[in-house]
Amino acid sequence: MAEVNLKKIVAEKAVDEYVKDGMNVGLGTGSTAYYAILRIAEKVKEGYDLTCVATSVQSEELAKENGIKVVSLSDVDHLDVTIDGADEVDDDMQLIKGLGGALLREKIVAASSVREVIIVDSSKKVDILGVKTHLPVEVLRFGHEKTRIMLEKQGCKATLRMDGDTPFITDGGNYIYDCKFDAISSPFFLESRIDVIPGVVENGLFLNVATTVLIASGDGHVERIGE
Ligand code: 5RP
Repeated sequence: MAEVNLKKIVAEKAVDEYVKDGMNVGLGTGSTAYYAILRIAEKVKEGYDLTCVATSVQSEELAKENGIKVVSLSDVDHLDVTIDGADEVDDDMQLIKGLGGALLREKIVAASSVREVIIVDSSKKVDILGVKTHLPVEVLRFGHEKTRIMLEKQGCKATLRMDGDTPFITDGGNYIYDCKFDAISSPFFLESRIDVIPGVVENGLFLNVATTVLIASGDGHVERIGE
């Protein structure tokens, strides 16, 4: 039997349900958002008039190669919907994002979106954030070693993300520290502590950002949290 591609199933369901002709649409980043972008391209070929904003250079290139009109966020008043992946999702639709390195633009785009539809497979579901993955934090390159010390004072082990032998550089020209906590039991408190550290540009906690989470599991069934 052919293997079920949960990322493709959940991405296509999100596009089919939430993207309508004439909309302004935010394009997520990552291997699940990839399938959403390809489905959006199919809608454009069917005749949908969509104006899209990408959350990364990678997604912008994929979209343009597939005939999608991509504009800058400044060119639209708002986005009707953004469809994006996540690295962890809890029952209250709180998220960790940024393993793909696009958290800064993803958060800015999400803040301009009426709907933020998150698409994941069931491996991303957790009871408490931080148990499975680390929290990515984007920081300025200037003085980043000092920023790391202040991040670790919040109770984590912070590791500079690498791209081979050199630090990974985000689309915004910054570094990322991957911060491993045992568990993040008070995410709002932690976010407030991280955000005041000088040098921190953005953190990967996406709290009260998602309006819908679609979760695909083993047999291809898609569970919905939210509207
Ligand atoms: C990129 C992200 C991605 O949405 C997240 O990493 C999920 O990616 P994938 O669908 O490949 O598991 O936040 O910055």
